[in-house]
Amino acid sequence: MSTREQWGTRAGFVLAAIGSAIGLGNIWRYPYVLYENGGGSFLIPYFFALFTAGIPILLLEFWIGHRYRKAAPYALRDLARGWSWLGWWPAMVCFVIVTYYAVVLAWALSYMYFSFGLQWGDDTKAFLYGNFLKLTDSPSVVGGLQWHIVLPVVIVWAIVFFYVYRGVRKGIERANKVMIPLLLVMIAIVVFRGVTLPGAVDGLNHLLTPDFSKLANPQVWIAAYSQVFFSLSIAFGVMITYASYLPKRADINNSAFITGLANSGFEFFAALGVFGAIGFLAHVQGADVKDVASAGPGLAFVVFPKIISELPALNELFGVLFFGALVLAGLTSAISLVEVSIAAVMEKFSWSRQKAASIVCGAAFVGSLVYTTGGGLYYLDIVDHFINAFGGLLVGLLEVILVGWVVKKTAEARAYTNTMSDFAIGSWWDFCVRYVTPIVLGAMTLLNLVKEFREPYEGYPLWALLTLGAGVAAAALIVSVAFHLSDARNLKPVSHGKQEGM
Ligand code: PHE
Repeated sequence: MSTREQWGTRAGFVLAAIGSAIGLGNIWRYPYVLYENGGGSFLIPYFFALFTAGIPILLLEFWIGHRYRKAAPYALRDLARGWSWLGWWPAMVCFVIVTYYAVVLAWALSYMYFSFGLQWGDDTKAFLYGNFLKLTDSPSVVGGLQWHIVLPVVIVWAIVFFYVYRGVRKGIERANKVMIPLLLVMIAIVVFRGVTLPGAVDGLNHLLTPDFSKLANPQVWIAAYSQVFFSLSIAFGVMITYASYLPKRADINNSAFITGLANSGFEFFAALGVFGAIGFLAHVQGADVKDVASAGPGLAFVVFPKIISELPALNELFGVLFFGALVLAGLTSAISLVEVSIAAVMEKFSWSRQKAASIVCGAAFVGSLVYTTGGGLYYLDIVDHFINAFGGLLVGLLEVILVGWVVKKTAEARAYTNTMSDFAIGSWWDFCVRYVTPIVLGAMTLLNLVKEFREPYEGYPLWALLTLGAGVAAAALIVSVAFHLSDARNLKPVSHGKQEGM
């Protein structure tokens, strides 16, 4: 077996981890989550989640990747015999996510183009759902492929494929070294414009005014944990895979803190710009901030085009900057999402990177086509809801149970990362991994399950929820177990080579 690919520089690894973390979730999800869950007071559950689960699990995954130097399924198998399914599962989840994530990027790319001449017109809602998506009346009406959306999807996949095909150092690292600094510059301009617009202060007041009564609501704590998991890309196999490309000596503790804090800093910064701009729109329309605020596609493709049209000057430029920022943030996340599967199948089938990248990206592209149909937005919404409800958090829960209670390696992990890091992590980390995180995640999983059975998500028809939602999530798990079983059959004795710092 040839030697494992490696990052060229330490900054390359940290930038790639940050690039995976910073994505659509930071720009279109976080601001609204913050607003809806108590504003300033939400920072309490948020930072609690970040420091008890976010950064500790990030450290744990960096350790697993660095220690075992394999793709997620095999790193986990080496950590604990019989657990490779826990690496295949997030790999499948990432594969499903990237099929629709790429489509959202394609929409953003189209809107970059629509910025020229502000082609969305006055009724941005009608433009999005009618003219652009051609959304059908219900999920049962598929509505055929929309070729004007297939085209940008092809472009997005071509870019992602280009970088993962070229490998870790020449592809992924390079993409992040170019895209992340560029993204920061673009977002800084957008945020600066957002907070200096008339009415911005009103938006920021709505965003930040604390509502401490919300802290008593468990849903607010669930929102904090879900945001931290998705936004930091933890429990998705990404961070294990990326850390497996580190050189023997690497400052893991520092990298985990930098990644976690950079991601949170970015989303908080973005939220200021988003709500400044929302305050401006409310001001212009004589409306209330709460009637203008939204998240997801509604925020990015209905509210923002309106804001962009209303700007006093340089409208087209700000359109390109905003949608361009979405595209860049999303591309680096999409690259990380496919890399999890690529690394895993490269090892499973002993394929070359080129072959694995071609097959994984090709298959994911075909999957993306589902969301380019007239009913695409419905399918996207349902799949996204279920795969997240039963993907990330559950994998995170199982990971901490595995390390904290099954193989009982928290002390070993901490000793390992401490010997090669600038500063040492104390025993609070073990406490978080063994007690705090499993208890909170366990309670959340139960609450989520109860909620799912009580009320069908968004009132979609049951058949759609069962096939697209629960069906896709279950299929991801079944395929993972199948891969696991076939791994077990081919199980050869594994050797870890010589490990330093143990
Ligand atoms: N963290 C990314 C975002 O905020 C999404 C992502 C999730 C990427 C899981 C990789 C893995 O948009």
